[in-house]
Amino acid sequence: MARVIVLTSGKGGVGKTTITANLGMHLAAKNYRVCLVDMDIGLNNLDVVMNMEERVTYTIMDVIMGKCRVREAIVQDDCFPLLFLLSSGGLNQNLTISISQIKAVINEMHNMFDYVLIDCPAGIDAGFKRAVSVAEEAIVITTPHLSSIRDADKVVTILSSYNIVSKRFVINRARGDLIQDKIMIDVHDIGKTLGIEFGGVIPEDDSVITNTSANIKNKKIALNRAFEILANNIVTGEKKLFDCTFKYRGLWGHIKKLIKRNV
Ligand SMILES: Nc1ncnc2c1ncn2[C@@H]1O[C@H](COP(=O)(O)OP(=O)(O)OP(=O)(O)O)[C@@H](O)[C@H]1O
Ligand SMILES: [Mg+2]
Repeated sequence: MARVIVLTSGKGGVGKTTITANLGMHLAAKNYRVCLVDMDIGLNNLDVVMNMEERVTYTIMDVIMGKCRVREAIVQDDCFPLLFLLSSGGLNQNLTISISQIKAVINEMHNMFDYVLIDCPAGIDAGFKRAVSVAEEAIVITTPHLSSIRDADKVVTILSSYNIVSKRFVINRARGDLIQDKIMIDVHDIGKTLGIEFGGVIPEDDSVITNTSANIKNKKIALNRAFEILANNIVTGEKKLFDCTFKYRGLWGHIKKLIKRNV
């Protein structure tokens, strides 16, 4: 049976799609069968982030409308044969999808995959409800900014009324230099506010845009080490912390910090 995990946040633009894609790649690299499901129907972009948009023939909408089976709609990743994407389609059809229709699609996937990762739309309206209703686990993503943490906190409260058995938070776009100088909120303080299990920390890193499935195994890239720890935490239930302050320690770290702030 697949573990069905929704990645949600409340606030938009905090990194749900980015983390869905990268977590999926790292789980597939560990030989798990993974399907990424884009439930941001109408504003779908997981296909673009995964560089698969050209190869999407059928979407989750086509499966719901009976035009094809899940097997025909999923697209296989070029680098990881165990990684698949189920994309979503146009805005107009969004209005007509029910939770039971989405549940039927996810049920069909249960025996096909080890992990089904659901990329949730921003907000807490119909799209959010559909996405969280079909999941048993949630990863609540926040950035270390007050507005994002507040939205994440609201989402955590709302999730209590769903059948979610496990909730973890992931902090995205953490700035090691600012955390070290106590300018940015500390990971542990965010944990205390949200009151759910710790999942992982992903640093702010522009290479997230260019980092493809071809080079995610490159451990010299800090981002890859952070996603590797996140994937391990999800698989094992551990709560290991990626330390994004490591490169700002000592004299050389101090110089790096000054350079970063002045560019
Ligand atoms: N760790 C990171 N470091 C640098 N940039 C990042 C990081 N995570 C995400 N981004 C960038 O932030 C932007 C928003 O990310 P993303 O689309 O994943 O957010 P989202 O939560 O899915 O947004 P939406 O709510 O609109 O669906 C993208 O341009 C992405 O490249
Ligand atoms: Mg998104």
